[in-house]
Amino acid sequence: MAGFVIKGGAPLKGEVRVSGAKNAALAIIPAALMCGGKVVLENIPRIRDVEIAAGIVNSLGAKARFDGGGRMSVDSSGLCEDAVRWSEAGKMRASYYFLGALTALFGKASIPVPGGCKIGPRPLDLHVKGLGTLGAKVTQGDGFISAAAERLVGSNVYLDIMSVGATINIMIAAVFAEGTTTIENPAKEPHVVDTANFLSAMGADIKGAGTDLIKVRGVSRLHDGVTYSIIPDQVEAGTFMTAAAATHGEVVVREVIPKHMESLSAKLMEAGVEVEAGDDSIRVAPGRALQAIHIKTSPYPGFPTDLHPQMSALLAAAEGRSTITEGIWEKRFQYVRELNRMEAGISVEGSMAVIRGGAKLAAANVAVHDLRAGAALIIGALAAKGVSRVRGVEPIDRGYEGIETKLAALGADIERVRDKGDK
Ligand code: UD1
Repeated sequence: MAGFVIKGGAPLKGEVRVSGAKNAALAIIPAALMCGGKVVLENIPRIRDVEIAAGIVNSLGAKARFDGGGRMSVDSSGLCEDAVRWSEAGKMRASYYFLGALTALFGKASIPVPGGCKIGPRPLDLHVKGLGTLGAKVTQGDGFISAAAERLVGSNVYLDIMSVGATINIMIAAVFAEGTTTIENPAKEPHVVDTANFLSAMGADIKGAGTDLIKVRGVSRLHDGVTYSIIPDQVEAGTFMTAAAATHGEVVVREVIPKHMESLSAKLMEAGVEVEAGDDSIRVAPGRALQAIHIKTSPYPGFPTDLHPQMSALLAAAEGRSTITEGIWEKRFQYVRELNRMEAGISVEGSMAVIRGGAKLAAANVAVHDLRAGAALIIGALAAKGVSRVRGVEPIDRGYEGIETKLAALGADIERVRDKGDK
């Protein structure tokens, strides 16, 4: 186990470049298998989940290689397996995209039941319903989910919940289905649009990604030779913006798409933080004294659930009582106990975090439960005076590229240590 030792209390200052979006990369890498040749992906974040996705690609006979400088080449000419058996695959939630991609290619596929963050029940019923509507029989047993179809045929899929994963998986599976597939009530997250853009660059016929209705007209093949640059990571950008605000720092977050950050920017400004958007950057600086605000997380363009814990860490110090109502994940609140070790003054009432406000965060010894909880603890430790230890940071490495290096470049006193503080 690894940890961070953070000496907090100093404002972050300077510029930070955001990496490519984890959740887009995790969909685009399996989608890349569908062209039967080579593609080059740019702006790929070098994070644990992406390494797992690359490992799965390699275990299937195709080749995924990090070429340096944020580039990855994926060559699917040798793809020969329709079953993901690689043991690491079960550790990553987004391995479900291999089910859609391999079923589209081979008419059958199986994957280990996906794992991922422990933030609440993570059913796959909508993925199953979607693939089933296209004609696949999906079964589960012995820790694997399998799909089989004589042929996939386009159909209308209505999603009862705006699920990001189900939207993307059905979109991927529909690329080679006969006729037209429509997805009603789809998720509109930026990575849904990015995956659709990538598939379209390879010759897929997809319209409406990012709107209330996605239409996929089946094609018989995709072409290789595409070079595609992945969008910036909205959650990483938001984490740096919130960290800057929590430390009363002044930070320019570079290589972002400010439009993707609108809900966070609006809420930070409402709380009194100065936020200024450029073409592809956002500057965050201290404004008036932090005020309490109320947030509800919801699908894009609503406030992202993946920025909920970080925002709690910020609002702990605001004047007055704030609330964050969680609209996506039941167990998003696992961060509360650890943040309260820093005297954050947060309680949970049903699906709402109630943040007392006015806290002076204190340095503490805390443990990471999940990826975004870990980000919140780092923010808390940066804001608290004194030396904090954040233990078990592996979940953070799943989603943030070199977070300690980027924070250190902003002036943070942060050091990666082995468990128990040994270097
Ligand atoms: C993705 C993101 C994750 C983010 C989440 C919500 C990836 C790899 N992960 O997760 O970081 O927190 O979107 O923005 O992109 N649901 C069902 N049945 C299903 C699928 C989902 O009921 O078949 C429910 C879930 O329990 C949850 C809601 O739908 O309450 C949203 O889940 P979904 O959008 O699918 O999340 P993920 O794709 O797993």
